Amino acid sequence: MPVVPATTEHLDRAAALLRGGAVVAFPTETVYGLGASAFDARAVARVFEIKARPAFDPLIVHVADEAMLARVAEDIPPDARALIERFWPGPLTLVVRKRPEIPDLVTAGLGTVAVRMPAHPVARALIERAGIPLAAPSANPFGYLSPTRAEHVARMLGERVDLILDAGSAEHGVESTIVMIEPRPVLLRHGAIAAADIEAVIGRLERELSDEHKPLAPGRLPQHYAPHTPVRVVDTLARVPQSERADAALLAFRAPAPGYRAVRVLSSSGDLREAAAHLFEYLHELDALGVARIDAERVPHEGIGIAIMDRLARAGHA
Ligand code: TXA
Ligand code: MG
Repeated sequence: MPVVPATTEHLDRAAALLRGGAVVAFPTETVYGLGASAFDARAVARVFEIKARPAFDPLIVHVADEAMLARVAEDIPPDARALIERFWPGPLTLVVRKRPEIPDLVTAGLGTVAVRMPAHPVARALIERAGIPLAAPSANPFGYLSPTRAEHVARMLGERVDLILDAGSAEHGVESTIVMIEPRPVLLRHGAIAAADIEAVIGRLERELSDEHKPLAPGRLPQHYAPHTPVRVVDTLARVPQSERADAALLAFRAPAPGYRAVRVLSSSGDLREAAAHLFEYLHELDALGVARIDAERVPHEGIGIAIMDRLARAGHA
């Protein structure tokens, strides 16, 4: 397996590989990404191929600093500037007008580009060393659970990736929040930064795209982030009859329930940030058990809990 610890030496090697058109998986503070030079259409094509990702699904470009941002985005409108000041580096992706140097494949032919500046020190060091912005989707097969550990990437994509940099578990465990700035402010994906925190800076965001801007966000597809095992979202655990538990696994919020083949508790203290950080990791584990179903208990619909419920609802959509 091409998994290596993210030491200085391996960062240098990864950066050189990326400059030469390779595909490298790397940690970010949200989930692991599958990176290639954002200016190299052939390398980006391999990212789509490795993920079996449809070409209509545009990638996020990761930058290390403002100078790199200027090589990716045409101009930064005031709302985007305000969000950058407040949330970068961090788990916020902004959709702004693209520069012509960014290949159409990266943006699925759209006139806009999704860009973010990650906070993870390994991601930042890698982009800096490579000296190029990295187009990087989550490092999972299209539609499947996102990877929060290097082992997940190795298991799902393995030898098809040139190198996998390992820096342990991702801190947030759910993807970045995506806000479209141009042509107008719309929340495209719930994520690690709560929508309310973004609205506190730039005001109310629209939640729905009108048809002329679709399909922009496959993370909005009814089914996405899904394990192979069917997922059922459960409102009240006590109402699930014993007979339905024996061949199922439980992803509980705060406390276990008896009778299930296997149980994972997202956060015994009820901390939604801890719950998010465990979400995909536990779903990967439960998916490997070969049970008939995963019951996922509803979490409070607030803060990052909104992103958790968004992922569970899509994982459960059959
Ligand atoms: O946290 C994250 O954002 C992770 C890490 C690796 O940075 N990346 C990630 O990428 O979640 P991915 O490919 O799984 O999701 C990218 C999504 C696309 O599916 C699409 O919904 C949206 O970003 N997107 C990208 N470019 C866009 C554009 N020009 N307009 C609208 N949406 C866009
Ligand atoms: Mg993804």
